[in-house]
Amino acid sequence: MSLTHATQAVPGGIDLFEEIGRLKKAKNAVILAHYYQDPDIQDVADFVGDSLELARAAQKTQADLIVFAGVHFMAEGAKILNPTRKVVLPDLDAGCSLSESCPPEAFRRLREKHPDHFVVTYINCSAAIKAQSDVIVTSSNAAKIVERVPRDRPILFAPDRNLGAWVAKQTGREMLLWQGGCIVHETFSERKLAQLRVEHPEAKLIAHPECPDSLLQKADFVGSTSALLKHVIGSPHGQFIVATEEGILHQMRKQAPGKTLIPAPPLANCACNECPFMKLNTLEKLYLALRDEAPELTLPEELRLKALAPLQRMLDWSA
Ligand code: 13P
Ligand code: SF4
Repeated sequence: MSLTHATQAVPGGIDLFEEIGRLKKAKNAVILAHYYQDPDIQDVADFVGDSLELARAAQKTQADLIVFAGVHFMAEGAKILNPTRKVVLPDLDAGCSLSESCPPEAFRRLREKHPDHFVVTYINCSAAIKAQSDVIVTSSNAAKIVERVPRDRPILFAPDRNLGAWVAKQTGREMLLWQGGCIVHETFSERKLAQLRVEHPEAKLIAHPECPDSLLQKADFVGSTSALLKHVIGSPHGQFIVATEEGILHQMRKQAPGKTLIPAPPLANCACNECPFMKLNTLEKLYLALRDEAPELTLPEELRLKALAPLQRMLDWSA
């Protein structure tokens, strides 16, 4: 049985930051991290970005070992794009509710019912779904990519219904939507948000397009994690209510130190605006993954090649 994450304890008395730096050099490794990772992980990473930026970074790296601090589909994307590198993920169980909402067999049946549809899928899906797609999108290039789909082809969009509906609005293209959703972005309480806006009338609401349309309609700006970060840095405004996973606040605080950032409130009094999958990765697991070069992400070559075609098309169409 192969383990999904390292189980050994981190040896006592070591400075994890120092050790990670030393191992990175010794092994010619690179650490790629998504904005939803813990602040410590973002701080040891060589590159922090949104899904599109991370895919590009993974494709062009010359490192022998890629430690991917993100969720499974992201590390899988790195392997698809750069198969000669060894890819490890601190915790292989770091999944994604969107990806899980779209099982390959059910998706195949839907496609077969709509053979004329051009299949556009959000990068938050498994390699088995990518392999059934015509083109992949991320939240930062979805509208641009959909604009390039031949006008005479109806579109099937999966798995995120909210991103799909938002892109349909932006592009005026009708789309058949797979009914998947993100457990983090569908959890914000619009009642509490309305109250927050009364308390902070100056604050601008910025949101990720995985949020429901009712929330996006009220937002002053909608974009991918990177776009939200750039917006906060460049905007003349000083206060923002941020409707996405709270990990992004770390970079916002670092890169826009004078601004007031208020996380959008979840429904319950919980930490539901933290992605439980992203947060399975810890600095300790990252250190062990780098040290032991495990758990490794592998893919059958036939599946990798099928998934590569639509992923490469996305990179070509959004260059
Ligand atoms: P982006 O960073 O591409 O905006 O994606 C957000 C997300 O949900 C990743 O899982
Ligand atoms: Fe998936 Fe949502 Fe977590 Fe992103 S935030 S990895 S879409 S569950």
